[in-house]
Order: sequence, then C-alpha cells, then structure tokens
Amino acid sequence: MRPADLPILFKWEERKPLLHEGMLCVPRHYENHDKFSISFEEIFGNNHPICIEFCSGNGEWVARAATIYPEFNWIAVEKQFKRTRKIWSKKQNLGLKNLLPVCGLAEDFCLHYLKSSLIERAYVNFPDPWPKNSHAKNRIIQTPFIEMIANVSKPKATLTLVTDDQKYANQMMKVVGGHPRFTSVEDSFLPEDYGSSYFNRLWLSLGKSIRYMKFEVV
Ligand SMILES: C[S@@+](CC[C@H](N)C(=O)[O-])C[C@H]1O[C@@H](n2cnc3c(N)ncnc32)[C@H](O)[C@@H]1O
Repeated sequence: MRPADLPILFKWEERKPLLHEGMLCVPRHYENHDKFSISFEEIFGNNHPICIEFCSGNGEWVARAATIYPEFNWIAVEKQFKRTRKIWSKKQNLGLKNLLPVCGLAEDFCLHYLKSSLIERAYVNFPDPWPKNSHAKNRIIQTPFIEMIANVSKPKATLTLVTDDQKYANQMMKVVGGHPRFTSVEDSFLPEDYGSSYFNRLWLSLGKSIRYMKFEVV
C-alpha cells in the first residue's frame, strides 16, 4: 500500500468525522464532533491499554512502538492529511491492527473523542518549536492542552515530551513540571533505545542534543 492509495476522503464543504479503512478523520472548524461516537474497543477489537502520540509526522516512531509493544493499542494524531496517510500506509503494510492513525488537530481529538481516564501513556515527539518569540504562542505544549491530556489520562499515566529546542524544553518543564496535575519523573538526554523518527535523525545529524522529559499524572 502506498500513501496515495488512500484518496482524499471528502471535500471541505462536506467534511465530517469519518472512520475509513482503519483511519479516523477529525475535521477542523467543525461543530458537530459530539454527534459522532466512537468505541476504541470496537476499533481495536479489544480493551488493551491505550497509548497516544500527538504530532506523529509520518508515523515512523509510533509504527515501531506499535510493533514492539503489541500489548498496547496506539493512537497517532497528525494534523496533515499527507502525513497521516503515510502512517496509514505503514499500518497497512505492517499489519498493525493495534494502531489507529487520526488525521486532525490534537486539541480537537483530545477534547471531543477521548473520555476521561482513558490514556495510559501520552507522547509528543518533536512538536513544532515555533522558535521566534512572537510565534511561541502557537506551541502545542501550553496549559490548556496539557490540562486536556491530564483529563483523559489514567492516574499515574505518563506524558513524555521530546524536543531538540532547548528554549521550548525549558518552557515545557515550566508549564508541565509546574502544573499541579503533573510531576516530573525524568529530565535527561534521549535514551538510545527510544526509537527514531525523521526529525530525530535530522537534529542529531546537525549535532543538536535532544531533551527527553517524562511526567506522571497526579
Ligand atoms: C516537527 S514535526 C515532528 C513529527 C514527528 N513527531 C517526528 O518526530 O518526525 C511536527 C508535526 O506535528 C504536526 N502538528 C503540529 N501541530 C499539530 C496539532 N495541533 N495537532 C496535530 N498535529 C500537529 C505537524 O503537522 C508535524 O507533522
């Protein structure tokens, strides 16, 4: 299966939430999310614990995770359709029944499609750094989003954040580490066996060091 084997699923004017061949589309600027109900137990065919990666890019990291940890169900949320269908093609080619690619905004998916105390582990690997000060407001790791994550996480669930951008890493530590719903349990360089991705290799090849931060939901 090539990514292009998954056609664009609807025109903008006809957008709606849609589960199609194992991929979920969550449209933007849409008001009726709550009319669409999904059951993860039905989608995955079991009630294994759920891990989620937000901002998955082409899904290399999450496809490996789903392969080596089949005892978990994995959700990969990516806003760009072209990238999400690369995740979908990995799912098809590797036969990963425990991986659900979701095309949509992480914030929309978290708010409308996840119920409370559902998630066991959440990951955000190399979120867009928005390095200019005037753009920093666009960063995904901010209080409203991490509060959404806390609400849908089980007690003692973990949130792992990985970035090459030291300024963003410091902001993450301040926002998440300083939030009463999270406690910092690890702050180090990326472990060697963590798994790789396009952006991981890119930044390492440019000699950047990668910060790895793990938090536990209180
Ligand atoms: C720098 S890339 C990293 C991709 C991947 N995690 C990796 O390590 O290769 C950031 C990705 O986050 C996606 N993204 C940015 N904001 C998002 C949002 N609010 N919801 C979902 N995906 C988002 C972008 O489309 C992009 O693919």
